[in-house]
Amino acid sequence: RPLQRDNAVSVYDVVPVTVADYRRLAMRRLPRFLFDYIDGGANDEITLAANTSAFRALRLKQRVMRDVSSVDTSTLLFGRQASMPLALAPVGMAGMFARRGEVQAARAAQRVGVPFTSSTVGICPLEEIRVATSQPFWFQLYMLRDRDFIGELLERAERAGCETLAFTIDLPLPGLRLRDFRNGMLGGGWPGKLSRLAQLAISPGWAWDVGIRGRPHSFGNLADKVANPEDLDAYKAFVDSQFDPRCTWKDIHWLREQWRGKLLIKGLMEADDARAAVDAGADGVVVSNHGARQLDAVAPSISKLRSVSEAVGADVEVYLDGGVRSGIDIAKALAFGARGVLVGRPWVFAMAARGEQGLVELLDLFQRELATAMALMGVNRVSDLNAAVMDQGCAYV
Ligand code: FNR
Repeated sequence: RPLQRDNAVSVYDVVPVTVADYRRLAMRRLPRFLFDYIDGGANDEITLAANTSAFRALRLKQRVMRDVSSVDTSTLLFGRQASMPLALAPVGMAGMFARRGEVQAARAAQRVGVPFTSSTVGICPLEEIRVATSQPFWFQLYMLRDRDFIGELLERAERAGCETLAFTIDLPLPGLRLRDFRNGMLGGGWPGKLSRLAQLAISPGWAWDVGIRGRPHSFGNLADKVANPEDLDAYKAFVDSQFDPRCTWKDIHWLREQWRGKLLIKGLMEADDARAAVDAGADGVVVSNHGARQLDAVAPSISKLRSVSEAVGADVEVYLDGGVRSGIDIAKALAFGARGVLVGRPWVFAMAARGEQGLVELLDLFQRELATAMALMGVNRVSDLNAAVMDQGCAYV
């Protein structure tokens, strides 16, 4: 892998214009174990490669001689205006990739006008993001064994102005991310190792702000649950003890009763599961394989989008994540019935590379790519992106 050899000065230093450019910058900036934690997928990374290559295999139709003097990428996501059909996916520990990472990302999302999603296992707590921004953000939750604590988190989310809860259902247990094992991050108390590795492996310019010894510390939303804030092992032990592999749809029915806002069920691939989510009270679903970090060799998420969007009613908002790397990919997802996409690694790379400003630049690129593609497809509004804009010969029509 070109991790070390890729340090030559290149055009990417001047103007990054793709997710791959930001990825390369992030690779140089972050310690390897941290870059791999973000970049990697489960097991042999078969699905990781497929998530992006499936998008690349899809083809659009070029349509000409239409008035495209006005192209509008804006849309409504759960009733809120967004500048384009995209939200930042929940990413755990994002505060490790840049100083107060979640705050920087939430600010960038607000500047561009798209929703930010705060992860259960974020470094910056909900309240900190609330104070730093004025636009409502989304909150992501895993099913924790401690149901009372779930109740507390939901109250905190409501007080922080969150209107949409993304509830992630594809992590009954963590997938096997082999790069993390290889780097000593997993397989025996990784936070202890992590903090040692971090001290050894700090790269120039990388701001370690998670709370290793002698530095400010934070356990984000879970801070109250960890007795000793110096002890990252205690944090990891708490998180590990909280994953609930017994969770079933009846827990979603329960959750529905606890949460008054919009409920977005994240992490399903099959039409039957999407129907079950809607029966349990979901307002929306995210077709997702968790960015290929859970079950390796599962299909690429885009290949499942069409059957899921056909299975749920028109009033259920369908989102897609996994492998979205450009504005053109957004157009493709919408053509298969998505209301919007979530992006995970792209925003993390941009933020790790260049902070809030880098993320604003990346999101602006996505929007420009989407608008340009729409004009060249002869489409003025995102609501006009449907199966008719896809070329017949493309892989998943
Ligand atoms: C994630 N993802 C994730 N999802 C979630 O619901 N809660 C979480 O805490 C996390 N944490 C997390 C960490 C890292 C480093 C990554 C890369 C991903 C999954 C994420 O929300 C999303 O589903 C995928 O990242 C989408 O795939 P792409 O855009 O990364 O290809």
